[in-house]
Amino acid sequence: MKLLSAAQAWTAVSLLAVNLCSLPASAIVLDPTNEDSVRAVSKDVAQVLWSMYASNDSQVLSGITGLLTYPPYYWWQAGAMFGQLIDYWYYTGDDDYNDMIRAGLIHQAGDKWDYMPANQSKDEGNDDQLFWAFTLMSAAEYNFPNPPDGTPGWLALSQSIWNQLGTRWEAATCGGGVRWQIYQWLPGWNYKNLASNGGYFQLSARLALFTGNSTYADKAVEIFDWLQNTSPLVTKDFVVYDGSNIDAGSGDQGNCTKPDTNQWTYNYGIMIGGAAYMYNYTNGSDIWRERLTGLINKTSIFFPAQNNGILTEPCEGPQNCNGDMVSFKGYLARWYAASAQLAPFTAPTVMPLLQKSGIAAAQACVGPSTTGGGSYECGNRWYQTGYDGKSGVGEQLAALSIIAANMVPWSKSPLTSNSGGTSKGNPSLGTGQDEGIPKLDYGVATAGDKAGAAILTIFMAVATIGGAYWLII
Ligand SMILES: *[C@@H]1O[C@H](CO)[C@@H](O)[C@H](O)[C@H]1NC(C)=O
Ligand SMILES: *[C@@H]1O[C@H](CO)[C@@H](O)[C@H](O)[C@H]1NC(C)=O
Ligand SMILES: *[C@@H]1O[C@H](CO)[C@@H](O)[C@H](O)[C@H]1NC(C)=O
Ligand SMILES: *[C@@H]1O[C@H](CO)[C@@H](O)[C@H](O)[C@H]1NC(C)=O
Ligand SMILES: *[C@@H]1O[C@H](CO)[C@@H](O)[C@H](O)[C@H]1NC(C)=O
Ligand SMILES: *[C@@H]1O[C@H](CO)[C@@H](O)[C@H](O)[C@H]1NC(C)=O
Ligand SMILES: *[C@@H]1O[C@H](CO)[C@@H](O)[C@H](O)[C@H]1NC(C)=O
Repeated sequence: MKLLSAAQAWTAVSLLAVNLCSLPASAIVLDPTNEDSVRAVSKDVAQVLWSMYASNDSQVLSGITGLLTYPPYYWWQAGAMFGQLIDYWYYTGDDDYNDMIRAGLIHQAGDKWDYMPANQSKDEGNDDQLFWAFTLMSAAEYNFPNPPDGTPGWLALSQSIWNQLGTRWEAATCGGGVRWQIYQWLPGWNYKNLASNGGYFQLSARLALFTGNSTYADKAVEIFDWLQNTSPLVTKDFVVYDGSNIDAGSGDQGNCTKPDTNQWTYNYGIMIGGAAYMYNYTNGSDIWRERLTGLINKTSIFFPAQNNGILTEPCEGPQNCNGDMVSFKGYLARWYAASAQLAPFTAPTVMPLLQKSGIAAAQACVGPSTTGGGSYECGNRWYQTGYDGKSGVGEQLAALSIIAANMVPWSKSPLTSNSGGTSKGNPSLGTGQDEGIPKLDYGVATAGDKAGAAILTIFMAVATIGGAYWLII
């Protein structure tokens, strides 16, 4: 994920207030208390999302199964999009896209079923890979049509990613945690971020609940403890920060002593999801109840009063969200919904938020015109009356997420292998896979390692030019 400049600050939030009373005639009206309304609006919004991936005659627009067009869309966004479309199918029962979703998930698994496709070695970070893992876990939890015989199951593919993450845990710096990047030549190699570590936590929690295997739960506890007590990317009172540097630099002693304190909706979503799975796995333990409640409490900053309490990403005020950030709100909505299901005591808190911001997200889409037609493209700012002119995969995915999440009251619970989940596992898939990853020849970078940094720059330049760095290594 490309969050290189974490410059957006809360002060940037616009003072524009939404005025739901004066909606344009073409606005899409969602009634979140009405199942038919939620289903119908979800369908229209999902269709536009799909059209950004494939045409009606099933041609993938990028030309490669499972990929969106690059640029502007990175690999992880395709994984996130498929996850949203699997949620859409689960919530509404509309299986129109399932065959092509399945084909996309399988093709991007790569030759070794590890979600490390060679085409992505210029970009892939742990968080990117984890977004595919979340999608694979949803496929397992919802009994999405299984892969054909001879292909590992959704569960096995998730376990492959989990096993790979295990070998990337690094105690020598910051007392633990995985780095942002998988490949040493990518910018961000020296950063331990929330999305990668929180994502590893969530994946562990979901594997624990699905399989009942306590090894995964123990790992989830270990990662949470590192996040809260050592890094600390999650504070004692559950504020969630973005990440921390391994290397020392201007005013930063390194070794994760000075976190980047930007707060993002998706980082909270990732943590809330993981805590909800752990709450359920532990049969409603006090500790996970407290953590889940604390994390949800702290998300109130994303519902600012000046935006009428509508879900807002900090970068929206100045409209300088990048292509990654425009989708972030969708993941908070996604895992609020998971929390409502797996920790029903949170439903009275999160469902009204999903309802209110869901209505706002729907009215921020371009509605059908009075003369017919209309595209249902959705904008970035939900608190603004009407469409703000921004559209793309991220905006569409986020809107679909929060609208479809309102189906929770009419949805079945996610499955586990004990309650009808049929996905096949393989606890050892992906083990030892990381041995094949090329490494730069300077070991673990020490603070202020100038030679290392220089080599890194050279490799980055080569990587930018093309795939030729493989030859150099
Ligand atoms: C694509 O298919 C959908 C559903 O069948 C239809 O409503 C829509 O108009 C079609 N779009 C185009 C561009 O043909
Ligand atoms: C990698 O790129 C090649 C060439 O564009 C393409 O044929 C192949 O399908 C891609 N593989 C994946 C997993 O995206
Ligand atoms: C880095 O941080 C970890 C965890 O807080 C600590 O155990 C370790 O001693 C620190 N290393 C250095 C070199 O300060
Ligand atoms: C949760 O309850 C079930 C059923 O009583 C039990 O089998 C399981 O061991 C419990 N899980 C934990 C983590 O305590
Ligand atoms: C969450 O917020 C509620 C209401 O403000 C408060 O009573 C509760 O103590 C908070 N819980 C945690 C764990 O922060
Ligand atoms: C766990 O989730 C199920 C729904 O999937 C729910 O029925 C159950 O009440 C949850 N357990 C707890 C302790 O809340
Ligand atoms: C639980 O998961 C761990 C980690 O993958 C694995 O080593 C172990 O064999 C699993 N245990 C069972 C009973 O499946």
